[in-house]
Amino acid sequence: MNITSKLLREKFLGFFCERGHAVIQSASLIPENDPSVLFTTAGMHPLIPYLLGQRHPAGRRLTDVQKCVRTGDIEEVGDDSHLTFFEMLGNWSLGDYFNHESIAWSYEFLTSPKYLGLDPNRLSVTVFAGDDDAPRDDDSAKVWESCGIPKQRIYYLPKKNNWWIAGTTGPCGPDTEIFWDTGKPACSDHCDPGCDCGKYLEIWNNVFMQYNRQADGTYLPLQQKNVDTGMGLERTVCVLNGMKSVYDIDLFQGALAKIQQLSGKKYNSDDKITRAMRIIADHVRTATFLLGDPVGVTPSNVDQGYVLRRLIRRAVRMANTLDMPKGSIAQLAAVYIEVYGDVYPELQQNAEKIADELNKEEERFSKTLVAGEKEFFKVIAHIPGKVVPGGTAFKLYDTFGFPVEMTVELAAENGYTVDVEGFKQKFAEHQAKSHAGSEQRFKGGMAEGGGIETTHLHTATHLLQAALRRVLGDEVKQKGSNITPERLRFDFSFSRPMTPDEIAETQRLVNEAIERKLPIICEEMPIEDARKTGAIGLFGDRYGEVVKVYTMGDFSKEICGGPHAQNTGELGHFVITKEQSSSAGVRRIKAELHK
Ligand code: ALA
Repeated sequence: MNITSKLLREKFLGFFCERGHAVIQSASLIPENDPSVLFTTAGMHPLIPYLLGQRHPAGRRLTDVQKCVRTGDIEEVGDDSHLTFFEMLGNWSLGDYFNHESIAWSYEFLTSPKYLGLDPNRLSVTVFAGDDDAPRDDDSAKVWESCGIPKQRIYYLPKKNNWWIAGTTGPCGPDTEIFWDTGKPACSDHCDPGCDCGKYLEIWNNVFMQYNRQADGTYLPLQQKNVDTGMGLERTVCVLNGMKSVYDIDLFQGALAKIQQLSGKKYNSDDKITRAMRIIADHVRTATFLLGDPVGVTPSNVDQGYVLRRLIRRAVRMANTLDMPKGSIAQLAAVYIEVYGDVYPELQQNAEKIADELNKEEERFSKTLVAGEKEFFKVIAHIPGKVVPGGTAFKLYDTFGFPVEMTVELAAENGYTVDVEGFKQKFAEHQAKSHAGSEQRFKGGMAEGGGIETTHLHTATHLLQAALRRVLGDEVKQKGSNITPERLRFDFSFSRPMTPDEIAETQRLVNEAIERKLPIICEEMPIEDARKTGAIGLFGDRYGEVVKVYTMGDFSKEICGGPHAQNTGELGHFVITKEQSSSAGVRRIKAELHK
């Protein structure tokens, strides 16, 4: 079948719409109020409160196409299948239908000639084999059989393969995964969909979320049984068109053509060139979406900003190996903005910012890239072994702006490794010396899920924004928010540092709102009405979309998904611990609640 990404999006949403699902908009790539991940990595991520039992304003059956960023396999990008940005097609049941309907619909959508018309003989599925935490999923296997998948293509696999959770705590459950047989020969007699030899390609994952994993590793039943599914758009388009690589699909053709034009080199003429072109195509696409996101990220040395910086700098280095001229990165972004314009209007709206930030970052890095590479080659010519010292990696980072991952890659290209531990040591020493703040780029594990502390800090974030607008004026707009159980972090537009008096007054206003014990009311209404009430908020603009408006007495009114405290009096004493710059025109406040 010949199918474009656009058509697949339409078919998918249409199919689930016909089956009573409300189409919701893609959420931001930057998770709001969730400290456990840097980026939205799956469609379920923004829906966690609803999987836990909160009512979603659009109902119990939802479908969407969610922008996702996963950088765990960034080193693999350049092969046939890995991407750092992808779109996930998903459908959800929030305590409504369960595995029977979910499986039957997936099968129908994939195989019916009315929809994707895939050959059922090339589909295999996996189900959960069962363990001490949850039983073997014979029920799902039976449903597959009744759809027509023969027993020998239904595989039982353990938690490692057939269990889904975002992070370490929260809603989770056994899943059933659907694989496409690429036709490659089996790698061994034991080759099955759990094998990563490339014969079987996972195209859809249906998670039956019915547990809530606690911080101590135990599983409690959720108050409702949910379904969370995810189908990778790029991969599925690739399969449907019988293509070998995800880079062959329509979405990349404009960018690859532009790269060839700018470099004067041919894609697929040589493995090294193909890989470099794919890395550029992938990283610039991800950077474009991150910069163009409604919440938005700019390159920096911490958190999301650091990942963005890495992506751009790696693309710049690859572009340099292909002799692409200055400004190429922004030109490629313009191609993507065009390609995705109708689906993600935020890219068009932020086109200027995207080009500007890409050009600035390219400019900053081009100045030191060549000198840094020279330094690298000078050092390796003189070291005895094959390990680049941590101090060299730190110098490349600190003086030449090389993310350490880039030094590792450069080293690998030349048959060397890097003493990354030594680098971290130098980095930590330097931080301690320069008192560079408590923010750590090398986080240990992710923070564990929050609970009541997180909810209180989330409510405090609303009070803080309302207070800032009273003290500094209405130009204050939320640019980002991140909450751990210990503190809130709030980024907002404002062009200069706050004075000590302004900080004190903001803190006083928030504490006053807490002491007044204001009731917190949540109302659902169409977004147009919400705007009319004067509610502020970051939500999208889908006409008729029903949103929640949280009102905190006469102090704050904000469009938000929740959850929140019921009364501001629950919060405790509010303390601003830091006010600093986040990026150009954006300030950052950190604050805590003391009981
Ligand atoms: N949340 C599931 C996944 O990302 C559907 O695979």
